[in-house]
Amino acid sequence: MRVIFPGSFDPVTLGHLNIIKRAASLFDEVIVAVLENNQKQPLFPTEERIEMLEELLYDIDNVEVEVFSGLLADYYRLKDADAVLRGLRTPSDYEYERQLAALNHSLYPGLETLFLVTETRYSFISSSYAREVASYGGNISGLVPCSVARKLYRKFFSDPVVEEKMKQIQCL
Ligand code: PNS
Repeated sequence: MRVIFPGSFDPVTLGHLNIIKRAASLFDEVIVAVLENNQKQPLFPTEERIEMLEELLYDIDNVEVEVFSGLLADYYRLKDADAVLRGLRTPSDYEYERQLAALNHSLYPGLETLFLVTETRYSFISSSYAREVASYGGNISGLVPCSVARKLYRKFFSDPVVEEKMKQIQCL
């Protein structure tokens, strides 16, 4: 079974990685599809978002990282996928996700959406919280992998400050 795990991944979080790894052990093929979105201005350009994911996932054979633009339903058809996979953290995620799933199904009736419930320890994590905490110099070691934490701090602070922060949060 081939599933697509779509998202903005701006940047990838520990929650995303947990879902991707669990999906890799459940399905034959997992396509991590990074949205190239011209409407939302991302903090990380598409190439950087892909590079971070590839670095973190290179050792999982059945996971591929790709970029997509336009409608997810069109990309799904193009990839001949069997399902879209999304993570569910909270009841509000569920409300949003069921609407998205229904919309995608109406755009392409063959499109099925599957959900994996996020592990409790990751349920408060989002890319936007990671960006916000990083912008204030807070500890993001529990939100994103260390390689991502360094790149995230670099968006807001000079190199020496970043290295000092990485030491402080023991994320090296
Ligand atoms: O990580 P995100 O930002 O929650 O992911 C949202 C995503 C990428 C799954 C969604 O915005 C999407 O599928 N966008 C592609 C455009 C599209 O198909 N729009 C119609 C449904 S909103």
